[in-house]
Amino acid sequence: MPTLAFSTDASAARPLFLVTKEGLADWLAAQDDATRNWVGAAGFKAGVGDVLPLPGKDGLSGAVGGLGSGKDRARGRFIAAGLRGKLPEGVWRFECDLEGDELAEAALGWLLAGYRFDRFVPDSKPMAMLLAPEGVDAAMLERIASGEALARDLINTPASHMGPDELEAAARDLACTHGMAIDVATGAALPKRNLPMIHAVGRASTREPRLIDMSWGDGGPSLALVGKGVCFDTGGLNIKPGASMQLMKKDMGGAANVLGLAHMLMDGGMNCRLRVLIPAVENSISGEAFRPGDILESRKGLTVEINNTDAEGRLVLADALALADEDRPDLIVSMATLTGAARVAVGPDLAPFYATDDNDAAALEAAATAVRDPVWRLPFWEPYEKMIEPGIADLDNAPKGGFAGSITAALFLRRFVTAASRYMHFDIFGWTRDSAPGRPKGGAGQGIRALYRALPEMLG
Ligand code: BES
Ligand code: MN
Ligand code: ZN
Repeated sequence: MPTLAFSTDASAARPLFLVTKEGLADWLAAQDDATRNWVGAAGFKAGVGDVLPLPGKDGLSGAVGGLGSGKDRARGRFIAAGLRGKLPEGVWRFECDLEGDELAEAALGWLLAGYRFDRFVPDSKPMAMLLAPEGVDAAMLERIASGEALARDLINTPASHMGPDELEAAARDLACTHGMAIDVATGAALPKRNLPMIHAVGRASTREPRLIDMSWGDGGPSLALVGKGVCFDTGGLNIKPGASMQLMKKDMGGAANVLGLAHMLMDGGMNCRLRVLIPAVENSISGEAFRPGDILESRKGLTVEINNTDAEGRLVLADALALADEDRPDLIVSMATLTGAARVAVGPDLAPFYATDDNDAAALEAAATAVRDPVWRLPFWEPYEKMIEPGIADLDNAPKGGFAGSITAALFLRRFVTAASRYMHFDIFGWTRDSAPGRPKGGAGQGIRALYRALPEMLG
């Protein structure tokens, strides 16, 4: 059963009453005595995720589900999603007075609650299904859910099964589905094609580094998406301590997110020329590894002093960004699990982003609020430019002192974008630490639902 889609079987659908704490008294007043007594006797208080089946003449007539208090809803997203796993299987339809973005959020949350990473432990338990509520764009919500599921799957798959080769295969799958052109430069082809920093970062691994370059569409404004595809980040010779390395299978989260977003855009028939660039590498250790103190020459010609081999993401992105920039696109968006500093600044929920254009930032912020995909703008702070200038090369990949680590990384990337009209960069975490409704522990899309909503306006 496709758990990320709506049911179309209206005849079998039972009502699921969605009731807030504040609305419980009114809802009860509108019910018959038997229902009122049953709900009272069962002690149903409409708390978040509370579910009470309602008896009927032939068994089950429906159910009532709690949406909690205003405070609960302000603190959480996708509140209704928690009901799905607690309802008896079968088809349900919402009975509620939600509308617009709130109704869409409840319906999307339901779909996302159908996500499971069951590649290694198959899980085909049937799940409760939902009839698409009237007034939502069902096809759009299914498209968003499948883009999000793609991002989650790619991140959740461990580096043993998601190296540069497998990430390329996933990109080829997507290209095939949507009729994208795809070109991949691998291993020794990287320096030959003037992508030297992608090669330098990835050459220590037995799994060859590569640049995946995909394009789609032949008219409209031009958009380039660039995603960090570090399939595993040991830190390189500046090796990470064990605890910091534990989650580094997710260091291709930027790539996973741009692929998920690309799916949404193409499936929805977005009017644009889309290019997706993914430097896919493993930051490993061997005699071939790049070293602290090395100076690398980049595609753009800027030289970079390596002061920490663990600041590898900005290096592989720099060459990909320089390549994207050569087309002079209207907008370049990069997404990357780039710095620990971003997580320290805003925690795992918010996606920090940078924008060269205030209108883009405003459009994104409004969309993020509407679709509950929270983002927070940080500045390309000019006065910190000097922190990334070491003296014996044009750029320093790891400024000392650790001040403003996410900002200095963003400034580093921006040096490689000089011809595109506008640039946005997301320094994402890509991971849900504590399971929440519709958001199980594991890989997470961040910012892509907001971008999907905002891009027509930004490119319009
Ligand atoms: N992939 C990491 C950043 C990261 C760490 C993201 C933890 C999410 C969670 C990145 O390659 C990295 O190691 N960055 C260094 C940069 C530093 C050496 C300048 C960091 O943030 O510590
Ligand atoms: Mn690193
Ligand atoms: Zn990294």
